[in-house]
Amino acid sequence: MIAHSRDTMNIEEIVQDLNQRKETLQLGGGQEKIDRQHEAGSLSARERIGALLDQDSFQESGLFAKHRCTNFGMTDKEMAADGVVTGAGSVNGRLVHLASQDFTVVGGSAGEAHCNKIVQMMQSSLKTGSPFIMINDSGGARIQEGIDSLSGYGKVFYNNVMLSGVVPQISIICGPCAGGAAYSPALTDFIIQTRAARMFITGPSVIKAVTGEVVTAEDLGGPIAQMNNSGVVHFIAEDDLDAIAICKRLMSFLPSNNLEDSPQLEADDIIIPDKALNSVIPLDPKQRYDVREVIGHIMDNADFMEVQSSFAPNIVIGFARLQGRAVGIVANQPNVMAGVLDINASDKAARFIRFCNAFNIPLITFVDVPGFLPGVEQEYGGIIRHGAKMLFAYAAATVPKITVVLRKAYGGAYLAMCSKDLDADRVVSWPSAEIAVMGADGAVDIIFRNEIKKAEDPAARRQELVQEYRETFATPYAAAAHFQVDDIIEPAETRRYLAMSLDFLHSKREFRPQKKHGLIPL
Ligand code: HXC
Repeated sequence: MIAHSRDTMNIEEIVQDLNQRKETLQLGGGQEKIDRQHEAGSLSARERIGALLDQDSFQESGLFAKHRCTNFGMTDKEMAADGVVTGAGSVNGRLVHLASQDFTVVGGSAGEAHCNKIVQMMQSSLKTGSPFIMINDSGGARIQEGIDSLSGYGKVFYNNVMLSGVVPQISIICGPCAGGAAYSPALTDFIIQTRAARMFITGPSVIKAVTGEVVTAEDLGGPIAQMNNSGVVHFIAEDDLDAIAICKRLMSFLPSNNLEDSPQLEADDIIIPDKALNSVIPLDPKQRYDVREVIGHIMDNADFMEVQSSFAPNIVIGFARLQGRAVGIVANQPNVMAGVLDINASDKAARFIRFCNAFNIPLITFVDVPGFLPGVEQEYGGIIRHGAKMLFAYAAATVPKITVVLRKAYGGAYLAMCSKDLDADRVVSWPSAEIAVMGADGAVDIIFRNEIKKAEDPAARRQELVQEYRETFATPYAAAAHFQVDDIIEPAETRRYLAMSLDFLHSKREFRPQKKHGLIPL
């Protein structure tokens, strides 16, 4: 900074003074601390923004913002941009607002001014209908600012809720994200966590003091723990650049706000039947296969962006495109626990269904489900209320809903996977499907118990009855006769069927009774 009085400066000196001030502030906590970030394999807050946004598209706000804290020797403490870089820019030509916490400035800790800057960007997102992206790298509430930093976080949480369902909110966790601060990402739509980042409400030392449990920071709050065990995280990134690439890819499937459709890509008009689909799944309902293979055959360029791939892997969710249109996919995964629905699978799918519904993304559901998982642990864990989330989310969704029954579709789980009665717009079945209250073996043991017992050859009689039940109910024809299934199609024709359905349903409008909000079972 030039040490002249402004009264004696000419315009060149004033501009030079401005530029020097900016340069200093843009260095955050200083080159030495930035170098330390680099040595740890991380980018700086500004480098992350540079990698995310289109070249020269960043317009910063609040570079000169300053804290007002006078406690603990803070009065004269310089904190560049108050530890968070905020502004607007574009990602592949689309407007976003963002905040990137700067760990080099007092550990990216969040005080009053820091939070006010974030909140202003969130409100700009809301006013302009543009996604909000928050890059987290922070020691949490700035301890010196006491209640003011807590209040700041409170405002961030409140605005997360205001934005929810109006504009997509994406959190990228690149460093620490601890304490109550972790609740802001939890209130957003998607969390991308790098391998080096750590998220938890209370860290290992507090846990040891309170419960005596010993755990490393990685085992507690690393991305694998927060994806596989808790289902908090949606994507694991190798490093900062990978996290940003994931964020950009994710955005390509999303609209900018709830009044728009997702960007549509060019597509070929002609769809060639894919005969490989006819043999992609085993006919025997007990044999496993990877449902992602089915998805790959049907979606554009076999391009499927799976969400929460290692949490509740017995259900698969994610985004893809069909004839250039973005769709949300929910599919039972027969490769894991036979694709059964349990507590975590229900939570995972229900949340995704609600996201797609909020942002006008049609839902395609692939069904191959033996039922809900039996067991004391599941009952005590509340499978009734968790499973009910699936029913609630599908029934409440008004986006186009298309269901493809691939193979098994039994009982309550068949209903929960977006059946006709939950207001699916199309339900189509492959000819080998079995739609029934339960599998033939279980059904026969219940309804023909006495008859089997009395038979001369119980085993043979049981087998006969199983066969009879199969032929009566374990086909899609009974369901089609009762109009629970719109059509039965050759698997090879699935892509064409879905593309036509999406086309016809594009103008779908559905009005529901006015209410403040429904009460999804939690
Ligand atoms: C003020 C903080 C800070 C904080 C870190 N710093 N966290 N300053 N408030 N919350 C400062 C440090 O004093 C240090 O300043 C600099 O940031 C870097 O921190 P280091 O400890 O040197 O870095 P590192 O070893 O990498 O450890 C990072 C860390 C650790 C794991 C984040 O700093 C840490 O545990 N911080 C406290 C985390 C925490 O308990 N937060 C909860 C706050 S309460 P100098 O000047 O030396 O560079 C909370 C509740 C929120 O968040 C509620 C919202 C509802």
